[in-house]
Amino acid sequence: MPTLALPPLDRASPEPLQRQLALALREAILAGQLAAGTRLPSTRRLASQLGLGRNTVLAAFEHLLAEGFIEARQGSGTVVAALPPVSPPAPRPERPLSARAALLTTIEGPRGRRWGQFLAPGVPDLDQFPFAEWSRLLARRWRRPGRDLLVPDNAAGHPPLRHAIAQWLGRTRAIRCTAEQVMIVSGSQQALDLAARVLLDPGDQAMVEDPGYNGLKGVLRAAGAQVAPVPVDDQGFDAALGETLWPQARLAWVTPSHQFPTGVTMPLARRLALVEWARRRQGWIIEDDYDGEFRHAGPPLAALQGLDRDHRTIHLGTFSKSMFPGLRLGWLVLPEDLVAPFTAARQLADMAPPSLTQAAMADFMADGLFAQHLKRMRALYAARRIAFTDACNRHLTRFGTLTPGEAGLHSVLWLNPGADDRAAADKAQAAGLAVPALSEFRLIPGPPGLVLGWGSLPEDRMDGVVAKLAAALG
Ligand SMILES: Cc1ncc(COP(=O)(O)O)c(C=O)c1O
Repeated sequence: MPTLALPPLDRASPEPLQRQLALALREAILAGQLAAGTRLPSTRRLASQLGLGRNTVLAAFEHLLAEGFIEARQGSGTVVAALPPVSPPAPRPERPLSARAALLTTIEGPRGRRWGQFLAPGVPDLDQFPFAEWSRLLARRWRRPGRDLLVPDNAAGHPPLRHAIAQWLGRTRAIRCTAEQVMIVSGSQQALDLAARVLLDPGDQAMVEDPGYNGLKGVLRAAGAQVAPVPVDDQGFDAALGETLWPQARLAWVTPSHQFPTGVTMPLARRLALVEWARRRQGWIIEDDYDGEFRHAGPPLAALQGLDRDHRTIHLGTFSKSMFPGLRLGWLVLPEDLVAPFTAARQLADMAPPSLTQAAMADFMADGLFAQHLKRMRALYAARRIAFTDACNRHLTRFGTLTPGEAGLHSVLWLNPGADDRAAADKAQAAGLAVPALSEFRLIPGPPGLVLGWGSLPEDRMDGVVAKLAAALG
């Protein structure tokens, strides 16, 4: 019997030796190095050849026997089983997938390359989160989870959380809905995806704000819809302009509380005009309220949904900014007749949201901790916005003009006319600052600018970071 040529086993690896040996033999058989019918050495001999205990080899053989790679033959020991021929692996990367996959790989995802660095827009302060209370609520739910949490039967989400959100939105945003109209989603990104699947057919025009959120445009393209950009001005989206540019469109996607990314707030006249457009066109409005809780000039504005008496507005929101992005919890407020189709789409996507975090979130709201946390964060962000504006006034005026914005966690530095905002963003990036260019969010060319997120920037670091940006922009 020739000595078996196997790769050396790694005695320092956490992988047990018997498993390493079984895998090595399996590879040799699949690669054709050990042909069908080849007699393997006895376990005693292989053990002494490899310096292993006999039990280790026995266990590896038993495993291969059970998987069918080897057979025990009366009188001739253990032999390699006769298996159908296995072709060598095909060379990558030519593996045709679907047309949809080809499309998906060309679409830019919602999160650019810069998440996690200083000045990245959309990042709340994570150091201030009351983790002690949050973990207590989670632990309490884990200790005695009810059957409703272990075997949830509701694709729209945990009923107490839906109830708490309906009440909260009614009280703070003048949204008119019942708990049955609230669907819990894993962040508003999933809400965008569901809405595109349910409301649009391939080729349909969907009006979007320009500049606007890239995660939304990606979702629309993936659904085969035509992305129809409408330039925003200092009052946000203009339904009349949209109708002129895209007379066929029956869907408008807007961020009225705090336009992303310019930061402007849509005034009442524009809101009413948009609601009227939807009524006349029998269209839909998607109100993406991604950070509407944080309005610095006063209490949060009433949502557009509450103005729409024709039930053509789908409101969506998220706990990503008010809690933390990794929570992956958000909500959709649906007109009654859309509850069934959205629920059907949601069931196909992922059955239902994870129950435990929903239950803890419902407790967090019911115990008043959410309101308390928001109150604290609003005061903190209001102070940060002022400190950030001051720092920009000290360091950045030669590059352009800052509009701090009335809401949210980011501001826009409008660069001097003619400036190249992508080049400026690249310079900032080279200095380790995550500052996207406004033109990254545009489909139609427009004035240059940088989007500066200050939500997670402590006041004592603000001056230093803004001075660093000024130095980078040079
Ligand atoms: C305008 C807008 N909509 C939706 C989202 C999605 O957020 P999430 O899925 O974390 O709720 C974001 C994220 O930053 C956003 O900026």
